[in-house]
Amino acid sequence: MKLNGKVVVISGGARGVGAADAERLVADGAAVAIADVLDADGEALAERLRGDGHQARFWHHDVTSEASWQTLVDAVRDWQGGIHGLVNNAGIVNRSGITGTSLEAWNRIIGVNLTGVFLGMKTVAPAMRDAGGGAIVNMASVAAWVGHNDPGYTATKAGVLGLTRTGAAEYVDWNIRVNAICPGIVVTALNEGGAHLEPWRRATPLGRFGKTAEVATLISFLLSDDSAYITGEDIAIDGGFLAAGSARRISLEAGIDLTAEQKVAS
Ligand SMILES: NC(=O)c1ccc[n+]([C@@H]2O[C@H](COP(=O)([O-])OP(=O)(O)OC[C@H]3O[C@@H](n4cnc5c(N)ncnc54)[C@H](O)[C@@H]3O)[C@@H](O)[C@H]2O)c1
Repeated sequence: MKLNGKVVVISGGARGVGAADAERLVADGAAVAIADVLDADGEALAERLRGDGHQARFWHHDVTSEASWQTLVDAVRDWQGGIHGLVNNAGIVNRSGITGTSLEAWNRIIGVNLTGVFLGMKTVAPAMRDAGGGAIVNMASVAAWVGHNDPGYTATKAGVLGLTRTGAAEYVDWNIRVNAICPGIVVTALNEGGAHLEPWRRATPLGRFGKTAEVATLISFLLSDDSAYITGEDIAIDGGFLAAGSARRISLEAGIDLTAEQKVAS
């Protein structure tokens, strides 16, 4: 029970990766505060986890609002006395290209994916300091490293890496570590049915999508004292996509067997 006694806030925790995080973190001993705009899903998840004997509560929460963050922090402190972990997980997509993206849509995705992470760190870190320290995990994406047809998503996820490094430097004296993770594709409501899924799977060296539970395992590790010497990092969990996806794609297109000995033309 490596998270025994720790209280963790998960933004966007009502479904998808955030819900898997909640399941894994309570199994590892944490009390989880599930915060989301999806009330029915969030309430049902918290109730199910409580039914299994875990400590879980849901709060309606909009990550774009500083007041909503402050209300959440105060409520969680009233509930458990302190906060030791934060997963900045809430996120949205908007696949329209630069020319096709309206300013309104651009501002919306910046608000959720980037301002939401900024406000999360800004409001929760002081509570973590008061509790003696803790750890923050920010959800970035392989999209932080690879351009594609979602300018708001790629820009905000790259921005999350910058915020992560800034937070790691700023909060070190408060005994708070800050890391980001970069998942490859995990099929959730965020991307279900997308035409890009199958080509991405083929370009992924491990040949499959990630699982929400696999992402949650990494998050639990980064929140725990097992990762005490890791801060300011971004860690890919992508089936080898960033490291070897280009080689995989090229070899597939050219019909080259990467496992076979290659003859160099002279
Ligand atoms: N699924 C993937 O392939 C993938 C890959 C890399 C990174 N990620 C990141 O993982 C995180 C979770 O994504 P997911 O796949 O579980 O998607 P999801 O859509 O299932 O979950 C996102 C959650 O964020 C919540 N949310 C949206 N706007 C919010 C707001 N303003 N305030 C509070 N909550 C809000 C949604 O209601 C939802 O519950 C996101 O940050 C996403 O960018 C996902």
